[in-house]
Amino acid sequence: EEYPHTDQQDWSFAGIFGTYDQNQLRRGFQVYREVCSSCHGLEYISFRNLHEEGGPEYSEDQVRALAAEYTVADEMAEGGEREGVPADRWPNPFPSEQIAAEANGGKAPPDLSLMAKARGIHMDFPWWVFNYFTAYQEAGADYIYNLLTSYEEAPEGVEVAPGLHYNEYFSGHFIAMGPPLSDGIVSYADEATPETLEQYSLDVAAFLQWTADPHMVSRKSTGFLVILFLVALSVLMYLVKRRIWRDAH
Ligand code: HEM
Repeated sequence: EEYPHTDQQDWSFAGIFGTYDQNQLRRGFQVYREVCSSCHGLEYISFRNLHEEGGPEYSEDQVRALAAEYTVADEMAEGGEREGVPADRWPNPFPSEQIAAEANGGKAPPDLSLMAKARGIHMDFPWWVFNYFTAYQEAGADYIYNLLTSYEEAPEGVEVAPGLHYNEYFSGHFIAMGPPLSDGIVSYADEATPETLEQYSLDVAAFLQWTADPHMVSRKSTGFLVILFLVALSVLMYLVKRRIWRDAH
């Protein structure tokens, strides 16, 4: 699927040695939590994942306190509900898909756990092998960034139906999600990071890249060693071959 334009960003997780920026993941989580989570679920993320290595790495105590702020459904609990614990999945803001759709003009907000992968660029074998060296791996994060920053006035003569919004980047341009972010709506703890639409969009896109690909960093470093090993093995095999066939004519 082609998108109108892709404004590629400089992601910390790009390239062979790219890693997630922990502070950025924390800011992105804050944006998700304060803004996106009122509509979008994150069903593949458990609270405890926010503590794990390579992610936002909140402390166990922080994660326990965070989980306890939420109420989760549990048939075994008295009243069918209880306080959240780190092992719980992130609770969906809506009790059902149908209610989610009704609350959003007929279109349920999709789960965001794997969105950065879902809106990435997918290629047939063998072409994706080379994505190790290209920016296509970050296409999903670029997509989310571009989507969030591309709300505009509809061009003259273009009618936008009620409940829809004009977004230059969205395929078809009419999206059921209103612009969720604008300058200043989330307060970051660190004073140095700008509180702008662009920065929030970068941060939440990076966070959603992590939720979609939490083991990317270890996979890249293992992959690098595997490639080194294969290169060394190829050289050895070549030398062995030369030696074995030395006297052949
Ligand atoms: C769709 C991200 C906040 C309602 C989406 C999509 C993304 C996204 C990536 C999928 C677009 C696509 O299909 O390509 C975010 C982020 C948010 C956020 C990162 C926070 C910064 C919200 C909020 C609401 C909402 C607060 C509700 C008030 C929706 C709806 C759709 C949608 C209804 C479906 C749109 C359609 O298919 O027309 N969002 N969202 N989103 N979002 Fe959000």
